[in-house]
Amino acid sequence: MPTNAEPAAEAARRRTFAIISHPDAGKTTLTEKFLLYGGALSSEAGAVKARGGRRAATSDWMELEQQRGISITSAVMQFPYRGHVVNLLDTPGHRDFSEDTYRVLAAADAAVMVLDAAKGIEPQTLKLFDVCRQRELPLLSFINKWDRPGRGALELIDEIEQLLGITPTPVTWPVGIAGDFRGVVDRRDGVYTRFTRTSHGSAIAPEEDVEPERASREEGEAWAAAADDLALLDAVGADLDPKSFLAAESTPVFFGSALTNFGVRKLLDAVVDLVPPPAPRTDANGNQRALDAPFSGFVFKVQANMDKAHRDRIAFVRVCSGVFERGMIVTNGRTGKPFSTKYAHQVFGQERETLDEAYPGDVIGLVNATEVRVGDTLYLDPPVEFPPIPTFAPEHFRVARVRDTSKFKQFRRGIAQLDEEGVVQVLRDREVGEQAPILAAVGPMQFEVATWRLENEFGAPVELTTTSYTVARRTDAVSAERLRSMSGVRIVERADGDLLALFESQYWLARLEQEHPDLRLERLVAEGRPG
Ligand code: G4P
Repeated sequence: MPTNAEPAAEAARRRTFAIISHPDAGKTTLTEKFLLYGGALSSEAGAVKARGGRRAATSDWMELEQQRGISITSAVMQFPYRGHVVNLLDTPGHRDFSEDTYRVLAAADAAVMVLDAAKGIEPQTLKLFDVCRQRELPLLSFINKWDRPGRGALELIDEIEQLLGITPTPVTWPVGIAGDFRGVVDRRDGVYTRFTRTSHGSAIAPEEDVEPERASREEGEAWAAAADDLALLDAVGADLDPKSFLAAESTPVFFGSALTNFGVRKLLDAVVDLVPPPAPRTDANGNQRALDAPFSGFVFKVQANMDKAHRDRIAFVRVCSGVFERGMIVTNGRTGKPFSTKYAHQVFGQERETLDEAYPGDVIGLVNATEVRVGDTLYLDPPVEFPPIPTFAPEHFRVARVRDTSKFKQFRRGIAQLDEEGVVQVLRDREVGEQAPILAAVGPMQFEVATWRLENEFGAPVELTTTSYTVARRTDAVSAERLRSMSGVRIVERADGDLLALFESQYWLARLEQEHPDLRLERLVAEGRPG
């Protein structure tokens, strides 16, 4: 990386994006293939290997993740491609972690949505898409697994339009039905690219551009069917439109098979060609921080214990302006305190490399960032504060108690840590104190992670008791006093100082609202939506 390069020029080379999908649609496979095409992974005897010869763990590093076979935590991967620097932010696949995904998407400039050709839009795709829409994130779509039987291409395109309400603009079109994948036609120039399979997709798939006449001769009916579809698409004018893509109103669609590498290059090329480079970020006052302004960035994720040997904690920071240099002393806007960045890393799955410089769009991992929280802005003067990352409305509430009271100190420390990381939200009842905080989550699996970590990482086995609360509203001190005297309501405080009123049912809440219209009961967010 060049030293002291102009931040704006370096930013222009950056593409920072995330991949979202329903579990099993192929996000992990596609991530590995991007790394393969980016030269960050090399193939050896059919197995994808990471740098240093270790088997690529992608982001499934935590024991619990391995036991459950799902990806819970997020990692960041950076690789060069066609003279650009690609930053791929990994997102957890499970729906219970949509809050975590939301934070990651706050640091991305675009997203790639992976669909399984046999399944189309699945529930989790819808939920993640909703998050992208709220952030107005440009979205590329990849219809995966075309190498095996699935649904019709036109039917899938139609489903994107109907269920997501976004205009699909197919950029590539498959020749051969799902399960008989020959290649793709690029609708931008009409060129047909034919693929050849390699064993296990461990190497880049050989591609050959074939003239239409020869294609027609050699592919027969598959070619004729694709030509019919293409004529239809041309007639409706579903062409790539960069302007509406950037406005998150249309989504360029690509067909492929991550497993066999078919269509992966076209998609990666589109990431470089279509995803917008980092732009000046708007601060909390509505002003833009120029890319060439002194360093600034915001923390979108805090994660503990990535390295079991060190038991440390990493704050992930998206750089918004200027040059980040390791060792720099920056200011944390929330505390006003200086913060040393001596231990800055580039994080690649579970591996780390010391990082010396970073530019807008890059993500840095700050190790031992004990005083840093999600949403914090770090900067060099002049000061800046970026808007907070909204939290989801919790829908599940459990009371936590330490099983062995001699471990209370560890329990308290663990609970505070999980709260700061955003693993769960911690709610305190001033009458009960620290003994039995309420843990609040968007999805119940967050409790599993919290319990596991309290026991294994902090040495504080806990017992969680189910509560009957299902809905939370933000309130103020005056209303809280009145609500305390009512039945079926509980007043708790969140770490950010907000007072929340918990209700057992929507019905009860609605009744109270009707009877006492002057009570302040603010909706945190619509169900499952950040706000
Ligand atoms: P996820 O991260 O979205 O959850 O999906 P992942 O990549 O783990 O893929 C889920 C399963 O789908 C894996 O199979 C993977 O090999 C398979 N898969 C991914 N892309 C394609 C594709 O383009 N074509 C086909 N046919 N399969 C694909 P698995 O049996 O669960 O795991 P594995 O034993 O193959 O690793």
